[in-house]
Amino acid sequence: MKIRVPATSANLGPGFDSCGIALSQYLVIEIASASPEWVVEHDLSDSIPRDESNLLIQTALKLVPDLTPHRIKMSTDIPVARGLGSSSSVIVAGIELANRLGNLNLSIREKLEIATEIEGHPDNVAPAICGSFVVASYADEEVEYVKHHFPECDVVAFIPSEELLTSASRGVLPNEFSYQEAVKASSIANVMIAAVLNGNLPLAGKMMEKDLFHEKHRKHLVPHLAEIRSITQEMGGYGSYLSGAGPTVLTLLAPDKSEQIAERLKELDSNARVEILAIDQEGLQVY
Ligand code: HSE
Repeated sequence: MKIRVPATSANLGPGFDSCGIALSQYLVIEIASASPEWVVEHDLSDSIPRDESNLLIQTALKLVPDLTPHRIKMSTDIPVARGLGSSSSVIVAGIELANRLGNLNLSIREKLEIATEIEGHPDNVAPAICGSFVVASYADEEVEYVKHHFPECDVVAFIPSEELLTSASRGVLPNEFSYQEAVKASSIANVMIAAVLNGNLPLAGKMMEKDLFHEKHRKHLVPHLAEIRSITQEMGGYGSYLSGAGPTVLTLLAPDKSEQIAERLKELDSNARVEILAIDQEGLQVY
């Protein structure tokens, strides 16, 4: 059995901790034979555990503490600590691992509730489970979510070579926000979402760039954001935003522009990866 979970990009600017899209990079878990101990085979960095302490197994054991150990093969093309939902993908795969091996028969909503409780916010785990575009809230320990088709576009990801830990990037956010500022920030988010639902990506992209919730507090951690924004505006992109807690910056654009913009962004930093991605429509899959 194989479990496949897509990369995700949270926030889309003002949809902070609430909106996310699924992207065409994947974590794949292959469940092999039962084994005396949990073994996670991978050729990723040595800092990622190959035993029961791996986040995948820890997540599965949270759901079913006496789950029969198995040998697992793990591969992924989702970069770690870059704002593309790598840890969410592992959490979602761990929930599905427990679901299948433990015959839990979890619904999509139950998987999302468990994943949100572990992650603390639903903006990565919701599109990882559902695919496409998801708007979700986690208030008073209750998760609500709406999945919607995301309009046709390409996504160019500028992925810096340095990691940025979510904890560090959340550490620079303010504790308080004035009432007036909150009203303004949420009106921007509301129009961004409504424009996506209307298929109006030029307007959605414009509103993504007007975020007031987090990007201005994080901009010193991600100096390339302003530069990418100015280049992609000039070259006709719909909009650029900090993917999740960063440091990756995503630009949404019409497919006929992606090659040209990707080539231009590669000139900014020879150590960064620039990739043209698509929206994943399916979310979590089991084969
Ligand atoms: N919404 C989160 C943030 C995503 O921007 O901090 C990272 O988990």
